[in-house]
Amino acid sequence: MNYSVSSNTLKDRVILVTGAGDGIGKQAAISYAQYGATVILLGRTVRKLEQTYDEIVSLDAPKPAIIPLDLHGATQQDYRDMAQTIRDQFGHLDGVLHNASLLGTLCPFEQIELSTYDDVMQVNVRSQLMMTQALLPLLHQSDDARIVFTSSTVGHQGRAYWGTYAISKFATEGMMQILADELSETNIRVNAINPGGTRTGMRAQAFPAEDPETLKTPFDIMPLYIYLMAPEGQAVHGECIAAQTKD
Ligand SMILES: NC(=O)c1ccc[n+]([C@@H]2O[C@H](COP(=O)([O-])OP(=O)(O)OC[C@H]3O[C@@H](n4cnc5c(N)ncnc54)[C@H](OP(=O)(O)O)[C@@H]3O)[C@@H](O)[C@H]2O)c1
Repeated sequence: MNYSVSSNTLKDRVILVTGAGDGIGKQAAISYAQYGATVILLGRTVRKLEQTYDEIVSLDAPKPAIIPLDLHGATQQDYRDMAQTIRDQFGHLDGVLHNASLLGTLCPFEQIELSTYDDVMQVNVRSQLMMTQALLPLLHQSDDARIVFTSSTVGHQGRAYWGTYAISKFATEGMMQILADELSETNIRVNAINPGGTRTGMRAQAFPAEDPETLKTPFDIMPLYIYLMAPEGQAVHGECIAAQTKD
């Protein structure tokens, strides 16, 4: 697919990125800002969010905003309050990148700890459901809104020892497909990205012996992230697309 877009394709768009303080989410926030978007940086570590904020400001891009929120503990009311804050401050919301995730522990199925399972499902699945429910009224008011989920190769093909994380990504792809079907006649396009092996902290946690230099960087995989938020990507709906051909 050709992901070319114009240089200010995200101008006037307001886009929320979860996990914007590190890894792929940090780069996505910076890239969206470079293409003209006002980006809302959501994450749990304020120091990291401030670093992303400073990088965006140094690029002379639209001034971002920070929402500190731990997806593990956030309640439905927290998401409703967040939606109200976005409405009050920006008046509209045009895109959400659900990116923040936990890897949990890679282990044999019979050793999956329920406490780890609950933590991963809370951050990777339940929080996305609650956040999306709270933000849908705002997204419906946009002329052309996007919801982009983040999956994984193990989100559609199970693999030994990836239990909890893989289950959460299957759920994420299911959520994407259900929403896409429900919203097919609306202004909201819904898709998922499978980043493929990418040089981040999470990848290093999963593959500690791997040489990170052999991996694509978050910057390398940005064309798809930008395209799916841009007017150029408007026709894509209900798909999970690989950002790399191989991971
Ligand atoms: N990297 C890969 O090879 C790869 C491959 C396939 C899929 N993915 C997916 O791509 C996405 C980004 O992964 P990544 O590699 O960039 O991971 P990462 O470097 O570990 O970054 C994850 C981000 O999520 C945030 N986060 C985690 N728990 C949170 C919570 N409870 N509340 C708020 N924010 C939270 C982290 O915040 P802190 O920095 O504060 O911890 C961090 O900013 C994930 O959905 C991942 O599953 C990655």
